[in-house]
Amino acid sequence: MSGAIQAPRGTYDVFGDQARARVAVEQQARQLLEAAGYERIETPAFEATDLFARGVGAATDIVQKEMFSFDDGGGRSMTLRPEGTAPVCRSYVEHGMHKRPQPVKHWYFSSFFRHEAPQAGRYRQFWQIGAEAIGSDDPAVDAESILLLAELLESLGVREVRLRIGSLGAPATRAEYRAKLQDYLRAHEGGLSEEVRSRIELNPLRAFDSSHPGTRTVMEKAPRLLDSLAAEDRAHFDEVLGMLQAAGVTYEIDTTLVRGLDYYTRTVFEFSSDALGAQSGVGGGGRYDGLIEQIGGAPTPGMGWAAGVERIMLAAPPMPVAAPALDLYVAYAKPELRGQAFKLTADARKSGHSAQVELAGRSLKGQLKAAGRAGARYVAIFGDEGTALKDMESGEQRLVDPAAVLHHIGHPL
Ligand code: HAM
Repeated sequence: MSGAIQAPRGTYDVFGDQARARVAVEQQARQLLEAAGYERIETPAFEATDLFARGVGAATDIVQKEMFSFDDGGGRSMTLRPEGTAPVCRSYVEHGMHKRPQPVKHWYFSSFFRHEAPQAGRYRQFWQIGAEAIGSDDPAVDAESILLLAELLESLGVREVRLRIGSLGAPATRAEYRAKLQDYLRAHEGGLSEEVRSRIELNPLRAFDSSHPGTRTVMEKAPRLLDSLAAEDRAHFDEVLGMLQAAGVTYEIDTTLVRGLDYYTRTVFEFSSDALGAQSGVGGGGRYDGLIEQIGGAPTPGMGWAAGVERIMLAAPPMPVAAPALDLYVAYAKPELRGQAFKLTADARKSGHSAQVELAGRSLKGQLKAAGRAGARYVAIFGDEGTALKDMESGEQRLVDPAAVLHHIGHPL
């Protein structure tokens, strides 16, 4: 027989304090986003592969090498969702959400899957908090969306946060710029890394992301998209920046910001934390005005972001988590009294108390120890002489009418 089976590489279990801390993060996100009118959405963990191929972009790393895809048994290719924006857009189209007041605002706290090399802050199954506002191209949507993520990170205490923001303009501008950049890269091919050179045709913008020294030198003088924006895109961007300034959000304009997904138009942004190592991206997003059309819907603008839950938790101080309170622990001296003990425990929970009963056949002494470890406020003990109720804070113990235990724990002895 071989050894014990372990969780797959790049995945992890969540329990104990970690699970409690995660609930605290989720609650904070819910409170903040629902206060801004975002409603919860849950989409399936897998979708037709085509949704991501068309939505995220066939040339992206995600689609080229990071998707967990499988045959659904009927010859259709399915993929574990690598991100949440394309699924939320699919849902918008499928449910005719354009008939609702626009923009339709949704948020999620879900797990995503990417076949990446695992390292600190990078997993194959990871969690994102995301927010998507679909149906309005007003720059106020962009500014509010960015502000919400800034507020979320601040409220969770994420350290050393930097916000970089840019604009990619309209697809036509981007296409023109892309050709210009390709010409520039070809003219300077000698200085570029092998990888960047091999991607000049497919994804020239990624050259800005390279850490290769020769490539970096070449890229310092490369044409910048921000300088080629059409007037209305520039105006849109300036309005977004103006509102962020009004809201007191600190940002840096980054003319080389490239995101790993192809659906972006106009605003793009990224929050990173210098408290993290190589994987410093905490959250990012932008506007995706062409995505819905790309996946078969009517042209509809959209804007949103996603933040990595693991990275938030790595870059923030530990969430203050209290162990759950226990009002009552029910012990019994011998197996014949177990039925009564069970009944009292169930009654206590029905009347709104937290209550636990012995579940491992311990001796009475062992049960009292277990009650102490669980932090019980009271212990009810079914014994030969009757039912005793012990106040664990004062140590006081006395016999009570079993029917009155719940009354007593509501009104201290
Ligand atoms: P993304 O930049 O690919 O954007 O991912 C957003 C965040 O998810 C990253 O900043 C990072 O914190 C986290 N993340 C990504 N991959 C991993 C991983 N392998 N392990 C741990 N954390 C990871 C999106 O996914 C877009 N859907 C964001 C968006 C929403 N744009 C518009 N709306």
